[in-house]
Amino acid sequence: MTTIGRREFLQQAAGASLLILAGGGRLRAANPQCKIEVLLKEPVGTISPDIYGHFAEHIGGVIYDGVWVGENSPNANYGGIRRELADRLRRLQPSVIRWPGGCFADSYNWRDGIGPRHQRPVRTNFWINTPFLQAAPDGPAKYEPNTFGTDEFIAFCRLVGAEPYLAANVRSLSARDFHEWIEYCNAPAGSTTLANRREANGSRAPHRVRFWGVGNESWGCGGDFTPQEYATEFRRFTSWVPDFGVHPAFIAAGPNGGDESWTRGFFEALIRRNRDYIRRVYGWGLHYYCGSAGRGAIDFAPADWYQLLGQAAHMEHLIQNHWSAMGELDPDHHAKLAIDEWGAWHPAGTEVHPTHLFGQTSTLRDALVAALTLDIFQRHADKVIMANVAQLINNLHSLFLAHEDRFVVTGNYHVFDMYQAHRNGRSLRTVFSAPEINEAGGPLSGLAALAGSASLHEKRLVLTVVNPSISETRETEIAIPAATVRDATVRTLSHSDIHAHNNFEHPDALVPRDSRLEVKGAELVYAFPPASIVRMILELA
Ligand code: AHR
Repeated sequence: MTTIGRREFLQQAAGASLLILAGGGRLRAANPQCKIEVLLKEPVGTISPDIYGHFAEHIGGVIYDGVWVGENSPNANYGGIRRELADRLRRLQPSVIRWPGGCFADSYNWRDGIGPRHQRPVRTNFWINTPFLQAAPDGPAKYEPNTFGTDEFIAFCRLVGAEPYLAANVRSLSARDFHEWIEYCNAPAGSTTLANRREANGSRAPHRVRFWGVGNESWGCGGDFTPQEYATEFRRFTSWVPDFGVHPAFIAAGPNGGDESWTRGFFEALIRRNRDYIRRVYGWGLHYYCGSAGRGAIDFAPADWYQLLGQAAHMEHLIQNHWSAMGELDPDHHAKLAIDEWGAWHPAGTEVHPTHLFGQTSTLRDALVAALTLDIFQRHADKVIMANVAQLINNLHSLFLAHEDRFVVTGNYHVFDMYQAHRNGRSLRTVFSAPEINEAGGPLSGLAALAGSASLHEKRLVLTVVNPSISETRETEIAIPAATVRDATVRTLSHSDIHAHNNFEHPDALVPRDSRLEVKGAELVYAFPPASIVRMILELA
């Protein structure tokens, strides 16, 4: 690779068809093997804002010590909700938040969480028997105080500008309990006893909850059902549900990772008597955790970096495979994918408090997992209608860590912030070509050397690109046939240390940097730094 001086470059570029840009102020010749081609005339679909959704379960430190600090807390709060969390989350336009679980949902009685807080019952939390919590001090992670219930959750959603997505208990409550929860939330003011209860609890106006999950992981903690049994439950729970003017969007408990037999079994059984039942499925709730690699969240070798990123990239195959299985029974694709749990899952050891079950410190590696995953959702905008990263705070793949008065945003937060520029855009087919990564020290389970996605917003093109190579800069031609770029801004999240992460002591160890590029011409070349996530906003003429 030749590096040339700026003056020399400008002289050469004046007569050349290729406009050269470079990160870090250096101008270089392009690697002819690296190319990104954005096909403006090949739209895939509109990117749903709900793919940037979140998930908050009553588990470990997510709700208590995370979202909820209590009204009388010395920690800054809005009616009990952690103020810094609400302020930072609101900036992300969080679209949708799923609650109260997770596995917890199928043990939860919504009635426990309404009414005067001091009168609410204390229950055993679903997760109490985990060895982690057995070793932890007693507190709300073990004994659920129900201080945070439906009305507090709705208040949290309204505070941050998100739509609530409530997951119902199918394993241990009835369809009637589910319908009464809907009635409590959505019945018009003054219309029923439950509407009056809601009013007495502070909300005269209906909550107008649209998204309803029918169980969670019903193949496991949600009831150990077979897909056929679950299809019967789903039909029963979604039959004759009062509408209250908010047509409910039901999310069915989908498969565990690649289990296509769950997908086929459910859809076959659902429509056996009547094909129209397919219309009840708004979202098919695929769950995929890409796991871990290495000794832990922070303790990993370069080969573990590549392994985990390869596992994250597997999401693409899951989407394609489940989508085609769904299409066998639902050729019009009425039902779309709602990937309502996703993220990395590292072993314990980096949680910020001993009660934070599954709490983990996210590094640059996890930020790349998030970016690769959001790019996949964006590339499949025609299939993915919603997604919820697991979980919001103090847990797996979190955007935030908090304990008492301490609070920090992780690299994952910055990725969500960078990627929100794609929301509501038209996803465009984009072809990435680059030579294989040759430093991985083993086979690279499907990890592309450059990956990303593009979306068009009238004359603004948003392009996000992940370079997973730990050491190689990718000097890449970016071709946008039939378009001229007028202006470009670039935001980059990267670090020379692949283990870089934010914590209470170093909250800005991993932060994005902005740069501006002078653009003249139709084609451009950009040097994508190693281990980076780059977002370009290109204004087209
Ligand atoms: O996110 C943690 C747990 O992972 C959820 O409760 C469950 O749905 C999944 O297995």
